[in-house]
Amino acid sequence: MAAIVLQTEIELKTFIKKVKNKGLNIGFVPTMGCLHEGHLDLVQASKNKSDITIVSIYVNPTQFGKNEDFSSYPSPLKADIELCNQRGVDAIFIPSTKLLYPEKLSYSTQIIVPTISKKLCGKTRKNFFRGVCMVVLRLFNLVQPDQAYFGEKDYQQLFIIKKMVRDLFLNIEILGCPTRREASGLALSSRNKYLSTNEKEKASSIHASFKKISSLISTEIYDSEILIKSVESIILDSGIDIDYFEILNQQSFRKSKIVTTESRVFFGGYMGKTRLIDNFSLSTSF
Ligand code: PAF
Repeated sequence: MAAIVLQTEIELKTFIKKVKNKGLNIGFVPTMGCLHEGHLDLVQASKNKSDITIVSIYVNPTQFGKNEDFSSYPSPLKADIELCNQRGVDAIFIPSTKLLYPEKLSYSTQIIVPTISKKLCGKTRKNFFRGVCMVVLRLFNLVQPDQAYFGEKDYQQLFIIKKMVRDLFLNIEILGCPTRREASGLALSSRNKYLSTNEKEKASSIHASFKKISSLISTEIYDSEILIKSVESIILDSGIDIDYFEILNQQSFRKSKIVTTESRVFFGGYMGKTRLIDNFSLSTSF
């Protein structure tokens, strides 16, 4: 059956009321569209656990910086709706900016998860996580999900959303799903659309560097700095500019000098103008 497309608050509220009256729970997959198999894994996870699956499609202006790709962000809406239909999504929520942000940013309620939002991606994308939290909380309040699904590729985002939900006592279960990769190891991302085949091949060096770190740990090299320094060239030689490349404790987001089973390697950088991020748990490297 085709997914119902909901665009207004009243359409959404009517749909949700019907679902809740039937005692069904709602699984929510927020997206910015340009759906790929990574998003569709989130849809599948929702279909496995939740009764009703709602996907939102909204390219959120507040999470983009001035010189970023907001205006060129790919929006193949027809293809996205078709994919949702094929994968059994129940409803697609496509809100307008007028609904989510009726006033200018300076008049709008802002949500800030401090400290952690300044690390990694937050170092160069100053207001990125503020924008993510602003839109996700608005979407949560509109959609009223019981569960919400996010990809581990955006591990810092997942961590921050879990914290926001905990700090604000939202009654929503946040579930992380593993990163979907191409055969080369490159993490799927809507921004991969900007890359040529050759660039995609080169960008697989990010995952190759993670694998190398993992294999060095199995030879008993545990010093984070030495690990990063030993593999940095794999990425640099492929023509990628590094924004950050760090090993952190995945529970605290503090630097791990010596890696442990709780360490995770985080990468952010650019292939030309295309931003690439990825991360990898080191828990099984020991
Ligand atoms: O991960 C994304 O696609 C976005 O940051 C999200 C969570 C949909 C908020 O705009």
